[in-house]
Amino acid sequence: MSLKETIAWAKEKKVAIGHFNVSDSEGFRAVVEGAKELGVPVIIGVSEGEREFIGVQEVASLVKIAKENGHPIFLNADHTYSVDKAKVAIDAGFDAVIIDGANKSYEENVAMTKEVVAYAKAQSREVLVEAELGFIGQSSKIIDTVPDGVSEETQTKPEEAARFVMETGVDLFAPSVGNVHGLVKSGQPKLNIERIKAISEAVNIPLVLHGGSGIADPDFVSAIEAGIRIIHINTELRVAYKEGVEEGLKSGELAPYKFMQEAVKEMEQVVKERLKLFNRM
Ligand code: 13P
Repeated sequence: MSLKETIAWAKEKKVAIGHFNVSDSEGFRAVVEGAKELGVPVIIGVSEGEREFIGVQEVASLVKIAKENGHPIFLNADHTYSVDKAKVAIDAGFDAVIIDGANKSYEENVAMTKEVVAYAKAQSREVLVEAELGFIGQSSKIIDTVPDGVSEETQTKPEEAARFVMETGVDLFAPSVGNVHGLVKSGQPKLNIERIKAISEAVNIPLVLHGGSGIADPDFVSAIEAGIRIIHINTELRVAYKEGVEEGLKSGELAPYKFMQEAVKEMEQVVKERLKLFNRM
């Protein structure tokens, strides 16, 4: 199945596909092994910084090999801030790309998104384009409080979302609905489920929930019922990775394939827990 068909399958089943960010082969292994063990589809996400580290061609090759081995795995160019970088990812064989003009003016955001949509549609294979409207913060890290500029007033409005989707022709839409990037020490905000429902009805395309780390399980369940089809997790994996490396190093081992095992194991645990919830297992 293509990514589009997999999203349609998720809608039918009333589940969401897990999207996990990685920046190296250890993260990649953890995500693929976790998804394989549960037998569910999964999306590997690489932001501009992450894909610079792992390598655009390299991560595309890893996904291609995993696909050839028969697992439904897809590759997404997460938060791409320029049209040129989006085109590089499409040329490298990515299944999807997010063109992120959320901190640009509405007109600029529409213009750059339309350019990427046109480029994606001109390919002989299927490439999905996602765009985001409404600010949800920017960093997958542990933060003290909800970032400035994220509030109930700045959440995406259904009518704006509908206009944006119509004007750009995107395949997937990421709204701001109480979600923020990162783990918030003072407490994760609650998702605005009614807003998700209203946006889902207004845009009539699959919705993507960014900033999944730290969101309470019942909120995820309600969000999926309301129309969320892809959920992004990054910070939780980064925390597991760091703790796993620290633990692994305590052994005094010199061989990376030995002291890194704990990090892979801890990340895989996070991936499996989240996938079980998103796939209602
Ligand atoms: P978190 O770091 O909050 O999980 O968000 C990840 C994300 O949305 C990546 O696009």
